[in-house]
Amino acid sequence: MAEIMDILAPLIKNINQTMIDLIGRDEAAVARVSGYSFDGGGKRLRPLMFCLVSEALGRPLNRPCLEIAASFEFLHMATLLHDDIVDVAEVRRGRAAAHLVFGTPEAVLAGDYLLSKAAALGAATGNLKCVQVMSRVAGTLSLGELVQLGSRRQVELSESAYFQIIYRKTAVLMEGAARIAALLAGADGREEAAARRYGLQFGLAFQIMDDILDYQGDEATFGKPVGHDLDEGKITLPFIKAREALDDRKRARLCELAERDSLSPQDHEEIQALVLAGGGVNSAHLKADELAHEAMEALSQFQPSPARDKLEALAALAAARSY
Ligand code: IPE
Ligand code: IPE
Ligand code: MG
Ligand code: MG
Repeated sequence: MAEIMDILAPLIKNINQTMIDLIGRDEAAVARVSGYSFDGGGKRLRPLMFCLVSEALGRPLNRPCLEIAASFEFLHMATLLHDDIVDVAEVRRGRAAAHLVFGTPEAVLAGDYLLSKAAALGAATGNLKCVQVMSRVAGTLSLGELVQLGSRRQVELSESAYFQIIYRKTAVLMEGAARIAALLAGADGREEAAARRYGLQFGLAFQIMDDILDYQGDEATFGKPVGHDLDEGKITLPFIKAREALDDRKRARLCELAERDSLSPQDHEEIQALVLAGGGVNSAHLKADELAHEAMEALSQFQPSPARDKLEALAALAAARSY
């Protein structure tokens, strides 16, 4: 995993420098919040995906390309600022969540600002299709979070409802980044469809892995607390898979525990044990692997290139990451 991120380090540096320049243009009131979020690190996956798809389709990684790539990280940062408020999360990227440092109203408004910043960068491309896709992506992200809120503690949540949520809250952004990269690189319809499929399947695998890490990640590496999804009543794929596999008595116990408004450490341990016993983590892993492979397969529509190889390695990481 570290290997591909090492290979991508020079590109990450370019993306970071572009973001620093763009954040530097903002007034201090907003730059100190977005600067804090930026400094926390993060994998920069969305701009990386944008740049690599652009490169694979023959677009040079010049300044305009890096700026629109950065807009996808700004969109992501906006969703993180808002998500941590909605999820009552205290830790992000290994340190205090921005709303605890600057205040909730400040984090809400900085998130709004970042959304508009991303939109302005999208509009600066002069490409109407790009603006249309970006605005639909931003709307879908909010919709995903809203629908997820409405499904809290719904222990009978179906797998298809889960997939609709993770498409909306996570994968749509990767799909959009890859698709807009293809659009702006002048790709043909076949390449654009492949880019979309890559981003979409990648994003689903990526969110499933995030949900797995919430069951069995290492907090120090993951950069956020483990077990938090259950506190928030989030029913995710490891839970759903275990629920389907357990016998009636264990299933009833699992559901009864997960429905509680407040979970004790013992409740957490018991749920964890039941999810593992039901093979939930393993099954979710298998699904994430399958989706990551589908993302890789989509790349066969691109000409072979070093950028395509990097996209392939990145997809492997989506389903095998520890942070
Ligand atoms: C976190 O995304 C939110 C999810 C969609 C799971 P990342 O895991 O890409 O977060 P950073 O940017 O690397 O911190
Ligand atoms: C990920 O949702 C999608 C976002 C909108 C950030 P999560 O709530 O699972 O993300 P984390 O675990 O807080 O990063
Ligand atoms: Mg969250
Ligand atoms: Mg999560």
